[in-house]
Amino acid sequence: MSDDRFVRAFDTASSDFERLGQYLWKPVGQATVELTGPAEGQRVLDACCGNGASAIPAARRVGAQGLVDAVDMSAGMIGELRSLAAGLPQLHAHVADVASWPGSGYDVVQAVLGVFFFPDMAAGTEHLVSRAAPGGRVGVTIWRRGAVEAAGTHLRDAVATVTGTAPAKRPTGPIDAVNEAGAFRDWLADRGLDDVAVTTHELRLHLTPEVAWLLVTGSGYVAALSGLDPAAIGRVREAYLDSLYRSGTDELDATTLIGVGTRAVSRRSSAG
Ligand SMILES: C[S@@+](CC[C@H](N)C(=O)[O-])C[C@H]1O[C@@H](n2cnc3c(N)ncnc32)[C@H](O)[C@@H]1O
Repeated sequence: MSDDRFVRAFDTASSDFERLGQYLWKPVGQATVELTGPAEGQRVLDACCGNGASAIPAARRVGAQGLVDAVDMSAGMIGELRSLAAGLPQLHAHVADVASWPGSGYDVVQAVLGVFFFPDMAAGTEHLVSRAAPGGRVGVTIWRRGAVEAAGTHLRDAVATVTGTAPAKRPTGPIDAVNEAGAFRDWLADRGLDDVAVTTHELRLHLTPEVAWLLVTGSGYVAALSGLDPAAIGRVREAYLDSLYRSGTDELDATTLIGVGTRAVSRRSSAG
């Protein structure tokens, strides 16, 4: 199971998630789908689908004869996805923990900016690999080391200023050991993928005040605001924008690593 805090955070973020999407989620989702390459009539599992940044382009590619199972734990995200994908009956949106998703035999499994939320990132990713048909393609997208971190640092400092507490530490996890291209390629091979290629998708966001604040309210960073009343959130916004401005940060690195491989035919055969 994923941590409930993240599910609540993504429920809260779901409407601003769409507004941030044009700058961030959609270009990354599109780039991932171009590399996983679902073809007409194929079956796709889109894990941690959010509001569909990669599931919707995948559904367009597979067409009416294909199928996309788009799975997210956040009911808010799935609600947004269902309205955005109203004209794509081949896209089936599900509220579920994809780390125990039972469907299998997919031609393509893709997970964009989600696996690092799994409580056990390696086991969760192995489960996703096992959902692909032997020889099926699996794509996993993560932030490259250092990407989007500046937003988190300035946000934690702003929350600390407003609440009079010490700044929270940046959360660390197993992702920190694999978020460079070579390490990520080896890690995916250890999860049961053959012929892994990692593509670096460079992206830099120009931080207008609107985009800078959407990075908070339209992403998992919104969790840092939980428990604050609207007036305090307004003060955090001011302190955060001021902190970014004073440090001269007008651009944010949002580069991702997109790892794609094929499910090894004879290893890790936990698939149904
Ligand atoms: C940063 S968002 C990315 C969403 C989407 N893939 C995109 O790129 O726009 C991460 C998503 O992963 C979802 N998530 C995290 N853990 C999950 C799990 N165990 N099962 C399903 N969804 C999960 C969250 O609810 C959130 O919507």
